Amino acid sequence: MKERAVTPTEREFSLREHALLVSRSDPNGFITYANRDLLEASGYDDLHGLLNRPHRVLRHPWMPRGIYHLMWKKLKAGKEFFGFFKNIRRDGDHYWVFVHVLPEAHQGKNVGFIASRRPAPFAAVQKMERVYERMNEVERLLTTYDPLKQCTASVEELRAMVRRFGYEKYSHFVRDLYEEGGGR
Ligand SMILES: Cc1cc2nc3c(=O)[nH]c(=O)nc-3n(C[C@H](O)[C@H](O)[C@H](O)COP(=O)(O)O)c2cc1C
Repeated sequence: MKERAVTPTEREFSLREHALLVSRSDPNGFITYANRDLLEASGYDDLHGLLNRPHRVLRHPWMPRGIYHLMWKKLKAGKEFFGFFKNIRRDGDHYWVFVHVLPEAHQGKNVGFIASRRPAPFAAVQKMERVYERMNEVERLLTTYDPLKQCTASVEELRAMVRRFGYEKYSHFVRDLYEEGGGR
């Protein structure tokens, strides 16, 4: 099913301080479960609004492609992913979250993924806005329309920024950013 694009409003939706937005997916990223906090954040009354739809319905169009590329690369290697996402609601408003996604395996075979999201601290959002804007610039500057090239280049830029912030590993950078934030 082709998903209709939602027009962003640039208005921020306030998540509750202790909200925990959880979802599960099949191996292709299609939603098999969403908890009440995720439904509320996304603007749906019940699970039917999100069930069997790709997680991409949560994607804000401003977000750089590269970050999802990095996420899928980690997940496909059987690793967990931590990061910050600006997500869009059904009405076009947005919210920022700190995300943890984990592959689920049964008898050595991937059966899907579990994601949990917490409200992103204000200072982390301010920093990630700059980081993602830089990744967006790199993606825009590539004149040939080749999504894989765009992703590889912007992830390379992300890694360079992480090193400039004094970190070897991207996952340590984002986890520190979340922990230092101490809430909104
Ligand atoms: C368990 C799980 C949770 C996800 N959660 C989100 C999310 O909260 N926001 C989002 O934009 N993408 C999320 N994604 C990634 C989407 O599947 C998708 O890759 C992304 O939105 C970019 O869309 P695209 O791959 O079609 O470019 C999630 C994927 C999985 C497997």
